[in-house]
Amino acid sequence: MLVKRNAYKSACKYTRRMRVNAPHFPDLTQKIQQLKKEKKALILAHNYQRPEIQDIADYIGDSIELSRKAMTEKDAEFIIFSAVDFMAESAAILNPTKKVLLPSTGARCPMAQMLTVDEIKRVKAKYPKAPVVLYVNTLAVCKAEADICCTSANAVEVVNSLDADTILFGPDKNLSEYVAEKTGKTLIPIPANGFCPTHLLFQSEDVKVLKMQYPDAEVMVHPECTKGMRLVADFIGSTSKICKQAKESSAQKIIIGTECGILHRLQKENPTKQFYLAYDGAVCPNMKTTTLERIYQSLKEEKHLIKVPQATAKKARISLERMFEVKT
Ligand code: 13P
Ligand code: SF4
Repeated sequence: MLVKRNAYKSACKYTRRMRVNAPHFPDLTQKIQQLKKEKKALILAHNYQRPEIQDIADYIGDSIELSRKAMTEKDAEFIIFSAVDFMAESAAILNPTKKVLLPSTGARCPMAQMLTVDEIKRVKAKYPKAPVVLYVNTLAVCKAEADICCTSANAVEVVNSLDADTILFGPDKNLSEYVAEKTGKTLIPIPANGFCPTHLLFQSEDVKVLKMQYPDAEVMVHPECTKGMRLVADFIGSTSKICKQAKESSAQKIIIGTECGILHRLQKENPTKQFYLAYDGAVCPNMKTTTLERIYQSLKEEKHLIKVPQATAKKARISLERMFEVKT
């Protein structure tokens, strides 16, 4: 763990700089706005995107809110998906008539790469009666093997909606443990130890130190964090649920246990409140490969088009649509 945290040390400087001063690129912003109009494009940005990208986005949200948004925007011809690969793939699957573009080919979620179709099949053979619930942080080929998908915003409800006590759940082991605690069901993690390298950086000791400084602060963490972090949290939820809770809470100081990009939105929406990142190096390098320049190139050259083979998309869509049917 310490080795991992050291590797992220330079990221601390990045998060501090970004939080103090969101950089401005007026020329580029203007060119993007112009092209966006001409091409009937919609820019969707995840809550972890760089501040200057959040500022030009048409909509900011968590993984599934963005796909839903893409579905409701009937007039858009292009969706510029400023996030990571699996989110853009979900949007492409759910919006077959629109062109979904991922500005950066480097924007690949390492957690999504941790699960393979072979691994799903191997565990399925051991537990043939157990339904397969997959976190949306998976590749389309894996979603095609799932019975239903979930996000961190609805995982508990999705698992509760199933008429089964033993469930295969992947790829995030921390989310799987959290859902098992909440539902009382047996969740078998697939793979055995999938994780988010960014959320694994958070340690409860850091929160305890911050709490000594700010005893009234409320602690809000993402369920991809470890159990230690969950135990010191006042609130556990998806990125958008954290944003909602931060608005509704009467706390003036809030300690955040998720990726640093969310601080821009939190601070903008709650200018009188103070936010403290539980670990300054909590940066998702994959999310940060998307830049304004890449968004501009993406719009101009209509790249990189997300294509999901039809047979895979058809099956994966069923797993996603089943998730939308679950009441939350
Ligand atoms: P949300 O669905 O909460 O936005 O999370 C996506 C993600 O990648 C968290 O690391
Ligand atoms: Fe993937 Fe973690 Fe980055 Fe989210 S924060 S996109 S789970 S690597």
